[in-house]
Amino acid sequence: MKDRYIKENKLYDIICSDYKLLQVISRFSLPLGFGDKTIEEVCNENGVDCETFLAVINFEKGSPYILSSPYHISVKSLSNYLRNAHSYYIDFLLPFIRRKLIEALGFSANNDISFLIIKFYDEYCLELRRHMERENEDVFPYVDNLLLGKKTKNVLLEMSVLHHSPLELKLAELKNIIIKYSDSANANNMMNSVLYDIFLFEEDLSTHCELERNLFVPEIKKLEEKISNNLVTAEANDDDEFSQSLTEREKEIIIYVVKGLTNKEIADKLFISVNTVTTHRRNIAKKLDIHSPSGLTIYAIVNKLVDIKDIKL
Ligand SMILES: [Fe+2]
Ligand SMILES: [Fe+2]
Repeated sequence: MKDRYIKENKLYDIICSDYKLLQVISRFSLPLGFGDKTIEEVCNENGVDCETFLAVINFEKGSPYILSSPYHISVKSLSNYLRNAHSYYIDFLLPFIRRKLIEALGFSANNDISFLIIKFYDEYCLELRRHMERENEDVFPYVDNLLLGKKTKNVLLEMSVLHHSPLELKLAELKNIIIKYSDSANANNMMNSVLYDIFLFEEDLSTHCELERNLFVPEIKKLEEKISNNLVTAEANDDDEFSQSLTEREKEIIIYVVKGLTNKEIADKLFISVNTVTTHRRNIAKKLDIHSPSGLTIYAIVNKLVDIKDIKL
């Protein structure tokens, strides 16, 4: 394959050059069994906008050609593609990974770390579901209205739901916790398999988020500009490298956090200001790459900072 896919390429060939494009084909609702037909032929036969399909597969390929935006993207088609991706993650993939994770962890009521990892996973799924539901319920209908020439709300507000950094951070944290702290001695093959699934999911989700940021949002902007002169900006967070061992004071704070104390209560116990507690918590998060109380709880138990009996699960 050249540096980009073109409409004359056979669909079979592009799948064989990158099997991950199977996901794209599925999300455009293109069925398999297309023989030796070209991209254009298959798209036309199935009522899929060929330019949008090409834009997405070249985006997935990381083709520099896409950056010059030569495609006439159908926003409706792209919206449907993103909606189908949400449904795939929420209704199929995440429950599928959960079942495998439970099996890999050898889950039982007595296995506290396994229980906490599943709890963490469920929290992540809930956050992702909320994020995608907001996009389904707010962003896509907003775009549908733009397509009808109506601007219904302040788009700057609505675009904030496309902010993905917290989700990416939490998924990285989940991997971190499973790899470092789970005990899969009895199901090593299954744990490797589920981790492999999570890595693939992370990569797929990252491309989905990039696509929303770099292809979908610019198209929405163009639509808005046709209706008014409002502009949208997508946010991005910076991550910086930071790795040191915990201080004794930070360990003390972790213990109080996992026991459920508020920052104010911790400050009172340690005779320090709330601002100082906040600074310590920020440093702990950077050092451990753990940003949630659930993640800290798992860390604290595994590292014997607290006893499982002292924690309300
Ligand atoms: Fe999305
Ligand atoms: Fe999103």
